[in-house]
Amino acid sequence: MMYFRREHLIAENYMRRRTFRIDLNAMTLLSYFSNWRTASEASESLSGYTRESVFHTIQSLRDSGLLITKDSTENKLENKFGKEWQWPTASRYYHFSTKIDDPHNSTEEINRYYDKYLKGRRQPPIYKSYPRQLKIDLLKEPDIEAPFFATLRRRHSTRELSGKPISFNEMSRLAYYTWGRISSYKTREFGELLHKTSPSAGARHPIETYAIVNNVEGIEPGIYHYSVRDHSLELLKAGDFRERCVVLTAGHSWTRNASALFVMTAVVARTAWKYRVPRVYRAFLLDAGHLSQSFLLIATALGLGSFCIGIFRDNLIEKELNIDGISETVLFAVGVGHALKSHHEPDQSVYHDYSHPLPSEA
Ligand SMILES: Cc1cc2nc3c(=O)[nH]c(=O)nc-3n(C[C@H](O)[C@H](O)[C@H](O)COP(=O)(O)O)c2cc1C
Repeated sequence: MMYFRREHLIAENYMRRRTFRIDLNAMTLLSYFSNWRTASEASESLSGYTRESVFHTIQSLRDSGLLITKDSTENKLENKFGKEWQWPTASRYYHFSTKIDDPHNSTEEINRYYDKYLKGRRQPPIYKSYPRQLKIDLLKEPDIEAPFFATLRRRHSTRELSGKPISFNEMSRLAYYTWGRISSYKTREFGELLHKTSPSAGARHPIETYAIVNNVEGIEPGIYHYSVRDHSLELLKAGDFRERCVVLTAGHSWTRNASALFVMTAVVARTAWKYRVPRVYRAFLLDAGHLSQSFLLIATALGLGSFCIGIFRDNLIEKELNIDGISETVLFAVGVGHALKSHHEPDQSVYHDYSHPLPSEA
């Protein structure tokens, strides 16, 4: 991706999340390599440049990943990337340039961020209103009271968890009512489609779920894949992953006390097979949002504490789950456990770190 920033032309390798200032020589060389070419061919074709300077610039462009070598690992990765992410650049750029590699920001970094960008700055109003327009007051307490409404009111993020186990029954219900197949139906054009408690764009249901089980009665701790077809947990790795949860979520310390952490990924091809427009990338995020809310409400209905997490170390999680981050890529995480305190008031602590990683200083 190329753009101007502060009087410089910038090239960004969004797969590697690195940016470079580009000068005229580099531009000339880059445009020459629209096909596979050797360095010698380049130096012979580009008059006015010495062989050394051409080779030197090619080397810098290779080091930065802006040029790649035929049949290299990068080349194979790019081929896979091109095959899976068939949409135009917009969705690819957004997705890959916003992945996180780093561990958690330190308290000092967070404080510096707030001092620099937020302190003393007037916030936009949290309400919008049309004071001069006709106004109809609605009922605050609708007269149809169903337990569902009480569940909606009780939902809040719980970050203080006891670490006590949830039951096998609770685990089963959380999985079934969030990600499970309620029914399926046959279509002529698209084969078997699933019906779940959450909608999905085009009924593609691209989301897969992995459960990191820390403390659930009757289930050995470890990492499992949730099989939608069989409504079962498939063991991928046995072991105690409580501390690993904190690392994977870039320092969310309470995940070690969660009974289970669920990581949602998207299987790109399921959606890309049908849709060719990059707008459909939004569907991944919207689908994950729907599933997350269902999960949080089900946990609330079961009297459990729950939370959702958008900040985590994408690449590390993908490695842990043994997925490549291209054909299947991580999107969102939710977790559940017993609240340390039984309170029905929203947790007043707002998690501050959506600024992670901090914006680049450039
Ligand atoms: C897209 C999204 C990403 C979020 N990411 C995080 C996160 O990384 N860490 C965290 O502690 N909370 C995260 N949250 C939870 C919000 O901080 C929380 O919902 C908000 O403070 C409002 O509190 P409530 O859930 O109790 O109503 C996220 C919520 C959403 C919807």
